Amino acid sequence: MSLSTPAKTISIPASGCNINKAQLPDNALVLPPTTQLQALLTIIRNEKTQRGDFVFTSDRIIRLLVEEGLNHLPVIPRTVRTPVGKEYDGVAFQGRICGVSIMRAGEAMEAGLRDCCRSVRIGKILIQRDEETAQAKLFYAKLPEDIADRYCLLLDPMLATGGSCIKAIEVLLSHGVQEERIIFLNLIASPQGVNNVCSRFPKLRIITAWVDEGLDANAYIVPGLGDFGDSYHTKV
Ligand code: PRP
Ligand code: URA
Repeated sequence: MSLSTPAKTISIPASGCNINKAQLPDNALVLPPTTQLQALLTIIRNEKTQRGDFVFTSDRIIRLLVEEGLNHLPVIPRTVRTPVGKEYDGVAFQGRICGVSIMRAGEAMEAGLRDCCRSVRIGKILIQRDEETAQAKLFYAKLPEDIADRYCLLLDPMLATGGSCIKAIEVLLSHGVQEERIIFLNLIASPQGVNNVCSRFPKLRIITAWVDEGLDANAYIVPGLGDFGDSYHTKV
């Protein structure tokens, strides 16, 4: 295409995804549906994408999610003096945070969080869906001992039925984390998953990059991207 030929543009639905904004629970937030985000999602959804590109591109979306998640943490006023001797009335983060990844796929989001919060504590919860029934089963949890005093960024790229996320949140609550201090960061969600989690835990917040059409007969997200953990960790 020559420089003088304008690129063909497409229009993006206002909600950016197949769920109308009005249908989303108040505690769910979808990233702005920019063309950049759509292009990144197109790469990771493509069955032909090789692992290196899948990882690189997923990491870019994860970075967007982490940056948005950090916007939802409380701040306090902070004034600093600049090198030209002037005061700048800014803000500083208040309160301590930790990340908690739902293994295995959620571990892919840890590096993106560390890139933004250098020495962040990260806990892990191993939950696996039964391949036949899609029921989530809890195997293991290792969390910071002072997690009850922290804001918690819960990490899992896929939200299908919501079973895994709900189990993870139950673990966090049982360790004393306050529901309103949990922010769930997620790449692709189903409408069912969003509604199941948000109605069960109305005080937590979900931040997702996209809400898809729904689930197939195997409780996989459609159009989705298949098994995120396989693509990120093992695909050739
Ligand atoms: C995937 C995904 C979520 C869960 C979503 O994990 O990472 O944890 O499924 O499905 P749900 O909302 O219906 O519970 P999976 O159990 O396949 O394990 P993995 O992380 O090892 O891929
Ligand atoms: N887990 C995934 O990785 N993808 C889905 O679509 C559902 C569960």
